[in-house]
Amino acid sequence: MTPPGTREDCIHFGEKRVVATVLLLLALTLSAYAQVVTPVEGESWLEHLHRAFDETSMGKSSGVYGPAAPMPSEWPPPHSALQLSNKFTGQSTTLYGSDLYRLKCQGCHGASGMGAPSEINSVIDPVRATSARMYIERMKKVGMEVTWKDAASLAKQAKGMLLDRLHKGGTDMPSPNPSLTDAEVRSLFAYLQQLAGIPSAEKRQVPVVEPPLRVGEHIVKSTCHICHASVGENPSPEGLLEGQIPPLNSLTSRLSLNEFVTKVTVGAPVLEGSPAIPMRGRMPVFTYLTPDEAADAYLYLSLYPPHN
Ligand code: HEC
Ligand code: HEC
Repeated sequence: MTPPGTREDCIHFGEKRVVATVLLLLALTLSAYAQVVTPVEGESWLEHLHRAFDETSMGKSSGVYGPAAPMPSEWPPPHSALQLSNKFTGQSTTLYGSDLYRLKCQGCHGASGMGAPSEINSVIDPVRATSARMYIERMKKVGMEVTWKDAASLAKQAKGMLLDRLHKGGTDMPSPNPSLTDAEVRSLFAYLQQLAGIPSAEKRQVPVVEPPLRVGEHIVKSTCHICHASVGENPSPEGLLEGQIPPLNSLTSRLSLNEFVTKVTVGAPVLEGSPAIPMRGRMPVFTYLTPDEAADAYLYLSLYPPHN
């Protein structure tokens, strides 16, 4: 006769083990996220620089300002379905340096890397300077011979300066936030070289795998935080007309996920003034962000509430 309870205990034990394993995996995943992902905090970059919204090109590289103010008969707009791909399952995505550049640099430096002189310098020359071969060729064109050794030493110095900037930013450029991991630096550096036209750089592109919350964190901290402060009062339509910018901690309550993704990727009118009427608004449209990426930003803002 089997001792009473053995079989049951066994099954029980088995189930407990499964539950324990799942909990452990979950805890590990969460702690991996928690180590990297933190809430956005503090004043906006424009507030930090004391630079007025109308006097800067920062964050405005798309140059697109959303749909014109609608006619009263067109308001409120018909409900449009959210165009998220079925990739948006909360799973990690593979990013290349070109993606990191879009999420973290393009808002200021533009798709070409040229920036907006004289306020935002071009990234191209400092990146070209990291190629000894390019330096030698450039010097040859103006009739100067340089040794490979001299060129290599100058290139190394230039690379050191560029990597330094990728960690610390500049006087008017924020330090990349969240700070880049070594893998992200390698990936971004390879893309900057491709952008600057360094021969065969396109063959050296490096992928990095990132969870959606990290993608959201990159976008919010590096792009949205240029103009939006982390916390503050949720402005009324009158406040918006006077130029107030809603803080990041108000965005997920101001708009639904659907409205948010629309505002960010294709633009949407906002209610301004008293009485409140729909207007075009002043926020640039981030035509180069995908709906999935905008949704990652929403998810990040919801799960990591911004603080002071
Ligand atoms: C908020 C706007 C902003 C963002 C975002 C930004 N930059 Fe900049 N960047 C600037 C400004 C302004 C300058 C010039 C002034 C300075 O050096 O602080 C600059 C300068 C540079 C320079 C040096 C140019 C020179 O002439 O030496 C490089 C390289 C650069 N940025 C790369 C990047 C990269 C790579 C990223 C993304 C990780 C990035 N920037 C994100 C605003 C920005
Ligand atoms: C160049 C400055 C600037 C940047 C960068 C910026 N915004 Fe905005 N944002 C504004 C302004 C100004 C408003 C006020 C409404 C308007 O003028 O369109 C606004 C409003 C909003 C609203 C609220 C709209 C409403 O109807 O209540 C959302 C949501 C929003 N921004 C999301 C974002 C996200 C997400 C990012 C980053 C991808 C971002 N913004 C980057 C300037 C900016």
